Amino acid sequence: MEIIPTEGALGAEIRGVDVAAPLEPKQVAILRGAILEYLLIFFRDQRLTDEAQVRFSRYFGHPEPHVRQRSEGDSSAREIFVVSNVSENGKPLGALGHGELTFHSDLSYLPRPGSLSIVYAVEVPLDGGDTQWANAYAAYDALPPDLRERALELKAVHRHGEDAQNPDVPASHPIVRTHPETKRRATYVSPQFTRHIEGLPREESDAVLESLLRHVTRPEFVWTHKWRPGDVVIWDNRCTMHRREPFLPSERRILKRTQMFGDAPFLEL
Ligand code: SIN
Repeated sequence: MEIIPTEGALGAEIRGVDVAAPLEPKQVAILRGAILEYLLIFFRDQRLTDEAQVRFSRYFGHPEPHVRQRSEGDSSAREIFVVSNVSENGKPLGALGHGELTFHSDLSYLPRPGSLSIVYAVEVPLDGGDTQWANAYAAYDALPPDLRERALELKAVHRHGEDAQNPDVPASHPIVRTHPETKRRATYVSPQFTRHIEGLPREESDAVLESLLRHVTRPEFVWTHKWRPGDVVIWDNRCTMHRREPFLPSERRILKRTQMFGDAPFLEL
């Protein structure tokens, strides 16, 4: 197995692994270590059935049936969430369309949000639809001291834009979280899901959030992945955010995602 770090803010390509085949414990340990070190790993030229994707996902946690309602034309395994703009026989195969998805950490609007996400690219557009990830450790490390002091004391409420996706009691998470395995601190706010800071008047909350969001999405923290069919990407939502570029609705894009869930985010002072 070869691990080839990207030259960007995060990520490493893994070569010499067939994701569809059973793995040795030693290989799994190396891959888990690489995720902790590089925050995201990817494999090219893979061929996965749903069953193989679910089996591979189990090496990294417990892939849960997705929390969102299944799309009408989606006949994939129950642990798989299809991200797609394609409809067949008038029935959508998946969700999330072709538009931009702004930066977010998966499912941060839940009390126990996503930890690792694993995506297999089945079909991708020739142009557009790239996904970008931001390194939230680097964002924390580079916070200006006054904003960092402030951020360490605050919690923020996360909500999905569609009411039906939200829990009855809104999820509130620390703005800076401690990664449960690396013990490093990472920012945990996103333009897509973070709504307001707990306990602050609206204007002050908006001002602090705006400064934080401007900071955490700075280009030097961001790495862009240009998808190819057969890619498998694993990322750690506890220390990254991601955003998707829009693409033409006439293009086909089908990604299959399995989702591991984590503990409630916490900050160790
Ligand atoms: C997601 O947020 O999981 C979707 C990512 C993508 O469409 O690239």
